[in-house]
Amino acid sequence: MTRLLFSNVSRFIFSLLVAIGIVAPAMADNDRRAQQVPMLPKYQHECAACHIAYPPGMLPAASWERLLNNLPRHYGTDASLDPATVKQLATWLTNYAGTYTRVKEAPAEDRITRSAWFIREHDEVSAATWKLPAVKSAANCIACHTQSDKGDFNERHIRIPR
Ligand code: HEC
Ligand code: HEC
Repeated sequence: MTRLLFSNVSRFIFSLLVAIGIVAPAMADNDRRAQQVPMLPKYQHECAACHIAYPPGMLPAASWERLLNNLPRHYGTDASLDPATVKQLATWLTNYAGTYTRVKEAPAEDRITRSAWFIREHDEVSAATWKLPAVKSAANCIACHTQSDKGDFNERHIRIPR
């Protein structure tokens, strides 16, 4: 009884410390990856026309830089922007880029979907699922992560299309 009470009290104190930012909770890497950062309206406006606005924390700064320097040849499409906008986006994206261990290595083709963590998180998704007409590409996060346009990749909101 006493022990139960104690554990409840210490859990309460712990959550209090977490809430006020003294204790950094041992969050899973993916929680930090999808960490919601204050959205730059220009990013939402310019980079969410063809796919969701991918969270900045999902790629390292080097990948974002390369990507922004190659917008006229953007994965087979032309996503050119004026230099001032490119500069503004680059500042914001590299500022919030992923820095922790599993994200800091630039993935092949600077694709989130080629990152080791991405492949591991999705190892239960079958080849047939990736090819569904409603999915088409692993880059099409919103096909399954229904709240990903709001930066929310929580498992609770995953619906695999049939
Ligand atoms: C004209 C349409 C268009 C615009 C605008 C656009 N993209 Fe893309 N983007 C694409 C296409 C097409 C792909 C490849 C998708 C696929 O492989 O299924 C892509 C892929 C990506 C990927 C890699 C996704 C993966 O496979 O992990 C990133 C990162 C990305 N875009 C970032 C951006 C950023 C940042 C901007 C804004 C500067 C932007 N995109 C604007 C069309 C666009
Ligand atoms: C075909 C459906 C599908 C697509 C498309 C997809 N995912 Fe996922 N995603 C899943 C499934 C299923 C899981 C595993 C959930 C679990 O482990 O219970 C997952 C897990 C994740 C996780 C870990 C979530 C957690 O809370 O553990 C992240 C982060 C994630 N996906 C990001 C992405 C990103 C970013 C994209 C697009 C570039 C994407 N996913 C595209 C189905 C998908």
